[in-house]
Amino acid sequence: MSVLDLARPELRALQPYSSARMEAAGGQVWLNANELPWPQAQASEAALNRYPEPQPAALIDGLAQLYGVARDQVFVGRGSDEAIDLLTRGFCAAGASNVIISPPTFGMYAVAARIQGAAVREVPLRAERGYALDVDALLAAVSRQTRLVHVCTPNNPTGNCLPSEQLERLAEALRGRAVLVVDEAYAEFSDAASATRLLPRFDHVVVLRTLSKAHGLAGARIGVALAAPELIALLRRIMPPYPLPSASISAALAVLRPEALRLTSERLQLIRQQRELLRVALAGHPCVLEVLPSEANFLAVRFVDATAIYARLSAAGIIVRSLQKYPGLHDSLRVSVGTPEENALLLATLNQVQRAA
Ligand SMILES: Cc1ncc(COP(=O)(O)O)c(C=O)c1O
Repeated sequence: MSVLDLARPELRALQPYSSARMEAAGGQVWLNANELPWPQAQASEAALNRYPEPQPAALIDGLAQLYGVARDQVFVGRGSDEAIDLLTRGFCAAGASNVIISPPTFGMYAVAARIQGAAVREVPLRAERGYALDVDALLAAVSRQTRLVHVCTPNNPTGNCLPSEQLERLAEALRGRAVLVVDEAYAEFSDAASATRLLPRFDHVVVLRTLSKAHGLAGARIGVALAAPELIALLRRIMPPYPLPSASISAALAVLRPEALRLTSERLQLIRQQRELLRVALAGHPCVLEVLPSEANFLAVRFVDATAIYARLSAAGIIVRSLQKYPGLHDSLRVSVGTPEENALLLATLNQVQRAA
């Protein structure tokens, strides 16, 4: 059985749009895409009068090297958000399929499913076990209509990682039944091994990575799906004609250069140090009930009065994310690890709140 047996059958037969840039690479005189022949007067580094390569070869090469996979295992799109959307559209039929998520987790898995008309089955993380994935309950929720199972490691918003034996068990159990989507948006902040190690054995595993977090490129919208070549080929068949703006491609190529990667790893070190300083300081703070252990660049923090703290921080110009809509996290806020100065300001503001109380 191929993973494509789980995809929407009508897409397997779909004649994809063939863009001008796909049909003809190379050449010097480009008269095939109805572009204007001159760049804009205020030309930037990239020649913006030309359509970009749909899946830029140099970027695919760089990402394959970065993540230790082959080129035909890489899809690059507008953020991992786009990969989530394409996976949902590629595998889920409206009114027929379902996806499984384990809340509290990243919201786009459910939103993408609902936009596509797929049902969302929720198998909550076990709060009493440190927000561990309930693998037995998850597998029990898989039906003949299940197409995608989403896991997130480190998980947003709880920050914990999925142990590798659980991931292996899930991959084994879902073979031939559903695609296992492993979202590693925050992997660089953790020591856990990447699920890319599963790719040679499982053609139904997809690993999502992004340049938005550790690589500091959220504004460029560069996200990656890593999977078996046939699954990547499916995503490329259903992607928009030119998903990536030229300026974003240039920015992504720049962060993959060795000097940029060195700076990224220095910054990762600093973020991890700051995460620990912040965790310790918050855990000892009288406003705080608990800080969840985190392997990402944020901390989920339970407060005595999260609503009041959110308001006081906002009034001081410090914006954190409320987690109060999540069951079990009604007293929690999520705080991204900032610069040392920003983190110190956060702590100083909490101290002021405490003194005023
Ligand atoms: C777990 C997770 N996955 C994916 C994304 C989307 O990232 P991107 O910027 O690559 O679309 C986010 C963004 O916050 C996230 O937290």
